[in-house]
Amino acid sequence: VPVDPFDLVIFGGTGDLAQRKLLPALFHRDGDGQFSDDSRIVAVSRGDIDSEAYRNWVRETLESQLSARELKDEVWQRFAARLHHVGLDMQADTGWGDLGAALDEDKKRARVFYLATAPSLFGTVAQQLQDASLTDARSRIVLEKPVGHDFDSARDINDAVGAVFAESQIYRIDHYLGKETVQNVLALRFGNSLFEPLWARGAVDHVQITVAENLGVGQRFDFYNRTGALRDMVQNHMLQLLCMVAMEPPASMHHDDIRNEKIKVLRALKPITLDVVDRVTVRGRYTAGIVDGEPVPGYREEGDDPEINTAEQDTETFVAIKAEIDNWRWNGTPFYLRTGKRMARKLSEIVFQFKPVPHSIFGDQPLTPNRLVLSLQPEEGVQLTLMTKEPGPGGFRMRSLPLNLNFPDAFSVTYPDAYERLLMEVLRGNPALFMRRDEIETAWSWIDRIIDSWHTRGVRTHEYMAGSWGPTDSFVLLDRDDRRWAQPE
Ligand code: BG6
Repeated sequence: VPVDPFDLVIFGGTGDLAQRKLLPALFHRDGDGQFSDDSRIVAVSRGDIDSEAYRNWVRETLESQLSARELKDEVWQRFAARLHHVGLDMQADTGWGDLGAALDEDKKRARVFYLATAPSLFGTVAQQLQDASLTDARSRIVLEKPVGHDFDSARDINDAVGAVFAESQIYRIDHYLGKETVQNVLALRFGNSLFEPLWARGAVDHVQITVAENLGVGQRFDFYNRTGALRDMVQNHMLQLLCMVAMEPPASMHHDDIRNEKIKVLRALKPITLDVVDRVTVRGRYTAGIVDGEPVPGYREEGDDPEINTAEQDTETFVAIKAEIDNWRWNGTPFYLRTGKRMARKLSEIVFQFKPVPHSIFGDQPLTPNRLVLSLQPEEGVQLTLMTKEPGPGGFRMRSLPLNLNFPDAFSVTYPDAYERLLMEVLRGNPALFMRRDEIETAWSWIDRIIDSWHTRGVRTHEYMAGSWGPTDSFVLLDRDDRRWAQPE
């Protein structure tokens, strides 16, 4: 069933995000018949181009990413007819009338403003929209990450946007929440009676969350160099994953039921203070190495401004943290988080490591404790390792083997990109997969404390070779607790 008619305005309509994610996602959803014929997409950029030129540009963009089979002519014609372009400098006071003129007057139609721009513009754009009388109670605003650089800047952005839009109209994106396997955490935990009784300190020894990337910082050096892995990945994606697996059962799938449980987890995160910061966190930075068989430069050689590269700035491209949740369920069960660029391979997974059996009847045969692995990337699935007996009439030999559920195989579908789901949720008006103001700000407070402690303590980055699993110190972090990362085996 198509969603109700909408006008979707994309600020940054010719930018990188629109190009790589938003336009292909919208095209696919349209191809599946989810948009009514009169729904429209209005791109805003500073470019001096008309709608026809914009359509040509979108066509080229899609051609470079989709196969000819996907880019069916009839779907393209329908999609192209929805596309409009308005040239506008978001920082200037002029031109907003042109945007108004391009929008449908119908008050019943949802207006969605998608801000795929620098966060410094979020407040300005919200205000301009209000001043130009382009917003009403049916409008929605979508904010791309990062919402701020620290607690103060996040609060300022939230205040400025909140002065125009009610919280229920604001959709803050964390694209990890749109990933199928992250959604599946809810299905697995609350659709089965098997796991929940074991989902706590009594049975779980510890949890590991790894988001490893093989890519480097690419074209985003300037942004990344001011940001680092802690702000870029942990503040949002990793903490959201942690919330999804650690939260209490929500009363329903209603967005506020879920978000109320997530915020409790964030509030219960034990602050990482000056006296422990160098024992529970590790910062790393990649040097030149080999990834996927290709030589790649080190972080210092990325970017094209030698001034920045040689500067003293000690940006981390890897971070590992031993996080603790001070509540009844998780007290004493650490959550080890790790993320990095230019690591051995792309791998995102959440590992529940269960406690060993209390007593072994198998003599000195080693027993591997059970492990539940939720795989997010590159494969999506669930794996449960069990001890089994090796077949044969000989002795009684034990072996650890996985029960494996691979989602794409099980459903024979290609999984859609996270943005397809998130865009549909915005258009349907369901904010469950988006972050509420208090989540963002509470997450920033926890992160700010780590950054302050790093600075005061002078915690430096450790080098790791591109193509490795991160600095040695991240192995020491678990070793110290007599534990090991699940990967590499
Ligand atoms: C983004 C970060 O939010 O997530 C990037 O800014 C990172 O640095 C990306 O590469 C990872 O997303 P995914 O979906 O490829 O795991």
